[in-house]
Amino acid sequence: MSSVVTGKESMPETAKLKIEDREIDLRVVVGTEQEKAIDLGKLRNETGYITLDEGYVNTGSTRSAITFLNGEQGILRYRGYPIEDLASKCDFVEVSYLLIYGELPNRQQLEEFTRSIRRHTLLHEDMRYFYRGFPRDAHPMATLSSVVSAMSTFYQDSADPRDPEHVRVSIYRLLAKLPTIAAYSYKKSIGQPFIYPQNDLTYCENFLQMMFAVPCEPYDIDPDFVNALNMLLIVHADHEQNCSTSTVRMVGSSQANLFASIAAGICALWGPLHGGANEAVVSMLEEIHRDGNLKKFIDMAKDKNNKYRLMGFGHRVYKNFDPRATIIKGACDRLLAKLKIDDPLFQIAQELEQVALNDEYFVERRLYPNVDFYSGVIYRAMGIPVPMFTVLFSMGRLPGWLAHWKEMQESESFRICRPRQVYVGENERQFIPLDNR
Ligand code: CMC
Repeated sequence: MSSVVTGKESMPETAKLKIEDREIDLRVVVGTEQEKAIDLGKLRNETGYITLDEGYVNTGSTRSAITFLNGEQGILRYRGYPIEDLASKCDFVEVSYLLIYGELPNRQQLEEFTRSIRRHTLLHEDMRYFYRGFPRDAHPMATLSSVVSAMSTFYQDSADPRDPEHVRVSIYRLLAKLPTIAAYSYKKSIGQPFIYPQNDLTYCENFLQMMFAVPCEPYDIDPDFVNALNMLLIVHADHEQNCSTSTVRMVGSSQANLFASIAAGICALWGPLHGGANEAVVSMLEEIHRDGNLKKFIDMAKDKNNKYRLMGFGHRVYKNFDPRATIIKGACDRLLAKLKIDDPLFQIAQELEQVALNDEYFVERRLYPNVDFYSGVIYRAMGIPVPMFTVLFSMGRLPGWLAHWKEMQESESFRICRPRQVYVGENERQFIPLDNR
């Protein structure tokens, strides 16, 4: 009998697999929250079989100590701390430290970390020329991933994934420069001059200033926007093995450098089924607003013959309220009330939520509003243009990507990620010369 590997102790337990005329024992792995997995590491060697799990619905790709998420109970914790506490009590830089290094920083560690990030906020001047080459109407996610990828060309002195000092510096560089790169993408799209980072500002203040200030007049940074942005970045900061984080791990597993791995994560996040949903939610709410017939959209989403989906609804893991959506909705309520903004899209979002939550189709499938459902409304209130929504998601998710990349590189079980497949194509056939086809 083999043993169960837990975070802390061993206890005897195995799963038995009976296949053809053989029976094998498979090790059971138990996480610190008692989540159980069957370790299939020796399956192919011992049986010749592999597993097939399209969309990775049942596949644990790794053991990770970063984020715990229970989709049935709507629980999300970073390094053991509930998201509700972190979102209401912390600064985003503090949460970034927690995710990347595993513990909340003390005051001195936080100051040092903040100082190190601040030292790197400027982009190499030559990188600004990239922006000249991009078309003005380029999607900022395309610009963001391209410029992050290009960091490998400018910062070769920190690009070796096997050198801890290089990794340390490239983590600072990415955290420091992503807001600058993001804000420049926006400035390019509206034809305004780039605003250099100002290092006496906080992370969120600096970003808002680079986005909205112009050289010809003073810009007052609204503390309500700073607080809302800080909360939004924190609730987006990690979500265990989602599509973009798995992409960062996958690319990093070939020992590609950190800049290349993060650029790939940004591309994965862009899609409307993942981070791009926040943009799609606002387009959907605008369309419903123009049309005026909310029921029509609900019916379209329920129609088996129609590919239409309610954006911002449903989640692979959450079969309950997404705790992030609850936090964002509360903040949205407070911000709109404080600013006396009467946004019809917020009204529609609330109505849509109520209709969907009481509709049998959504109840049966346990489809609840997800993180993207209300984030767009709050971004709108802050004056963030719609194409920048997913860019802000990237800024929030960056520390999670960095934490996972680092955890993987430092893991004793580090191996290149290389799934297998079940081949269903043609059997061997005879080659036909071009003239005979
Ligand atoms: N509207 C209508 N029906 C839906 C929706 C929706 N938004 N989401 C899922 N369903 C239905 C789906 O048609 C299927 O029905 P049936 O069992 O009758 O075939 C059932 O619910 C299960 O859906 P699924 O596609 O098998 O679920 P999945 O886990 O593969 O996909 C999802 C998860 C998030 C991609 C999907 O719910 C979706 O497309 N939602 C809209 C896009 C969205 O909001 N994405 C953001 C996700 S949260 C943030 C992030 O990850 O970045």
